[in-house]
Amino acid sequence: MHPDHPLPAPVTEMSAELWNSAAGVLETNWAGDHMVPSRRLYPHQWSWDAAFIAVGLAYVNPTRAWRDLRSLFEAQWPDGRVPHIVFDPAMSEADYFPGPAFWGVPAYGSRPAHGSTGIVQPPLHAVAAWEVYRRAAAHGAAASQQARAELEWLYPRLVAQQEYLTDRRDLGGGGLTAIVHPWESGLDNSPAWDDAMANVPADLSLLTVYRRRDLAVSDASHRPTDTDYARYVGLVLSYRAADYSDTGLTERHAFAVECPSFNAILGAAELSLAQIAGVLGHTAAAGGHRERAQRITSAIVSRLWNPDTGMFHARDVHTGKLTPARCVSGLMPLMLPDLPAGQVEGVLAAMRSERFGLPVTSYDRTAADFDTLRYWRGPVWINVNWLLRRGLLVHGRRDEAEDLRAAMVRLVHRNGHFEYFHPETGEGLGAPSFSWTAALALDLLADRSVPAYAKAA
Ligand code: SER
Repeated sequence: MHPDHPLPAPVTEMSAELWNSAAGVLETNWAGDHMVPSRRLYPHQWSWDAAFIAVGLAYVNPTRAWRDLRSLFEAQWPDGRVPHIVFDPAMSEADYFPGPAFWGVPAYGSRPAHGSTGIVQPPLHAVAAWEVYRRAAAHGAAASQQARAELEWLYPRLVAQQEYLTDRRDLGGGGLTAIVHPWESGLDNSPAWDDAMANVPADLSLLTVYRRRDLAVSDASHRPTDTDYARYVGLVLSYRAADYSDTGLTERHAFAVECPSFNAILGAAELSLAQIAGVLGHTAAAGGHRERAQRITSAIVSRLWNPDTGMFHARDVHTGKLTPARCVSGLMPLMLPDLPAGQVEGVLAAMRSERFGLPVTSYDRTAADFDTLRYWRGPVWINVNWLLRRGLLVHGRRDEAEDLRAAMVRLVHRNGHFEYFHPETGEGLGAPSFSWTAALALDLLADRSVPAYAKAA
């Protein structure tokens, strides 16, 4: 660990214990030039995990935080897409499914990786890079200098990532990015995709050809079902058939959805890019980023808001319909400072209602198919709660942000650095020693993530 990391104040016995255990998880999961989310279940590098991880790693080892982001972007494709997994050549095909041979992607970029997947994940990296940069001052002058150099290296790559998503992936033509696989949302089996996934063939025989690896290392009741996996595999085969080209994709691909969470992160990324462009002296570019954030915000409001539920919902590009499911993704546009007051109040009311609780569940607790165990169909996840806390801070709701922060810290301290948590008992579910839970615990303890554009309390 970084020799002189500042332990955040106030230091209680509980916060010191949690801080040390979180730092320990990040030490254990470091794999030389990148962080794995979990040693057994996710033994490669994941894209949006790297962003959450960098935010917390910045407190204890800023050099590794930058290294992790750099490793990910060294595997960026020539078209700008940042793959959702970069495969570690030290692991074998048998260690994870679907592995590099299944995806059949060459190793782009300078990273000596074993190829990558062909799909993306939410572009949270500009937000993360800005947060790591902001923490650098606490580590002295050399760290500040390193941070500026890293920002300079990352900035054009972050811009290329945004351009890929906004130019190549606006499949609905309304100014939003469409995801073409549930894995792209990071919220894999969320009920938000149930309607759109019903139109994707579920060929269970694929699972006799390709064997799931996740069930060998985690409890089947915590994971997506075989029917989900048959569809996941089928969608990759469909995208892979044309070498992951996005041209004419809507016509030949069964799944294309505008996700409120993905697009809120896309908008938040533009705001962080504006801040990064500002410190790098690209003043005109900074204005362009702010304008794009506004346009994304307007498109989210006009295309994904449902006035009857008072929430945002995923929109199926093929049918033009909003899904009725009320999921945590429908709260996420709270991250955007230009969200109109009516939508802010709607989302806050939904968050405070019995449907979500504190910390917020991944799905409506009152829904008939709410599932306390199964991945994104009910359990509590720290990463989305961290983003919602950021949203509360952006809109000046300091007291509620503090309640949410305290609830998350309590949950992780009592139950450990798990991947997700049972919404009623708090029991840890999925993978133990999970990197983003540990990294975000550090940030929640340090309590420094108030965005510069936050409104006054
Ligand atoms: N989250 C997926 C998995 O469970 C892939 O990104 O492996």
